[in-house]
Amino acid sequence: MQDLTGKTILLVISGGIAAYKSLELIRLIRKAGGRVRCILTKGGAQFITPLSVAALSEEPVYEDLFSLKDETEMGHIRLSREADLILVAPASANMIAKMAHGMADSLAAATLLATNKPVMIAPAMNQMMWANPATQANIETLATRGITLIGPTSGDMACGETGLGRMAEPEEILGAVMGFFYQSKPLSGLSALVTSGPTYEPLDPVRFIGNRSSGKQGHAIAASLAAQGADVTLVTGPVSLPDPQGVKTVHVETAVEMLDACRQALPADIAICAAAVSDWSAAAVLSQKIKKRGDRQPPDIKLKENPDILAALAGLATPKRPKLVIGFAAETENLIEAAAEKRRNKGCDWIIANQVGPADDGMEKVFGRDENHVYLITDQTTEEWQKTSKQAIADKLADYIARWFTETRQTQPAPMAAE
Ligand code: CTP
Repeated sequence: MQDLTGKTILLVISGGIAAYKSLELIRLIRKAGGRVRCILTKGGAQFITPLSVAALSEEPVYEDLFSLKDETEMGHIRLSREADLILVAPASANMIAKMAHGMADSLAAATLLATNKPVMIAPAMNQMMWANPATQANIETLATRGITLIGPTSGDMACGETGLGRMAEPEEILGAVMGFFYQSKPLSGLSALVTSGPTYEPLDPVRFIGNRSSGKQGHAIAASLAAQGADVTLVTGPVSLPDPQGVKTVHVETAVEMLDACRQALPADIAICAAAVSDWSAAAVLSQKIKKRGDRQPPDIKLKENPDILAALAGLATPKRPKLVIGFAAETENLIEAAAEKRRNKGCDWIIANQVGPADDGMEKVFGRDENHVYLITDQTTEEWQKTSKQAIADKLADYIARWFTETRQTQPAPMAAE
């Protein structure tokens, strides 16, 4: 029988009369074997007391961002890191607005902003507040960020009105939590390693060799694989994107660090190298800033070749080699032929080819853009994927991967099994 043993749920209780139902929810999660830690907002504490929350959860209750006691016992970062799932119930209109706009003016808001864990929300508010375009826009924003909505439901409200806005019943919320942990998705039970972004190779303390990669494609792939149920590690070079939700993200700078982090993320069933790894690094990194040298020649910087991460992963012996290794090929000319050759040379199973270089508007075609036009090349076929968003490409790739694992009947470890 599936239960929540070993699972920690961080329950954020924001202000609303439905907060009384959260007490029952705590009881149900505990009964199912789960651990519940609670953050009670100021609004929430107007409806239920910290004492009842603490008594039912058998844990301290966290209330204040600037409380020395709360922060030293368990800082807001640790609170979110140590949870498997964050559940906001009830999620008031105000809390939803704060989440959508990235505010961090309370312990609950700061924890939600700082989290890299999956988040579910159970909204509860007056029907007009729910229907307000502002709330609806906020909900849409949260949904596109991968946050799961539970309810609201329709019925009589505490304010005397009737309509959509009631918080889902605790049993229904528990069902959604169970579904989150146990529902089988196309990639459930599989682990994936994704590289993304550029690498920065230092020349001296202030300069580096880098490239234009934004990390958008790699990050989108990591998010899609996670949404399809895979256990994803994303190894990323320096980018200005947030870490995708529900993905273990490792930040690195150089190619050597990226290779090292990839090795540590093994074993993995799937490896996707979307990073634009710098081909070279400085043969010797200078400890002092290289100075201009008057009328003498500019410095003669010696380079050495970086390790090829894709080739290294594809070249691993079974069973260490990921079952499906996928690379990218950025080419400025002879796209298909060059990419097909790259696939063979690097020993990967599939390669996704994209043309780089200036587009008609003079700007770069791929790097930094939200769209991409690619070809998927395998040992059997070459398939064109018309220009579309990087997210759509990521979703399609995740679908193809799921199909490949089904068709080749690769043995999938049982969900939750540790390798
Ligand atoms: N790649 C890698 N490690 C490297 C270089 C590239 O893992 N040191 C991976 C990239 O993530 C991508 C693929 O190899 O999946 C191809 O990258 P690309 O830049 O197109 O090819 P290069 O190997 O760098 O070859 P060239 O620049 O000569 O085309």
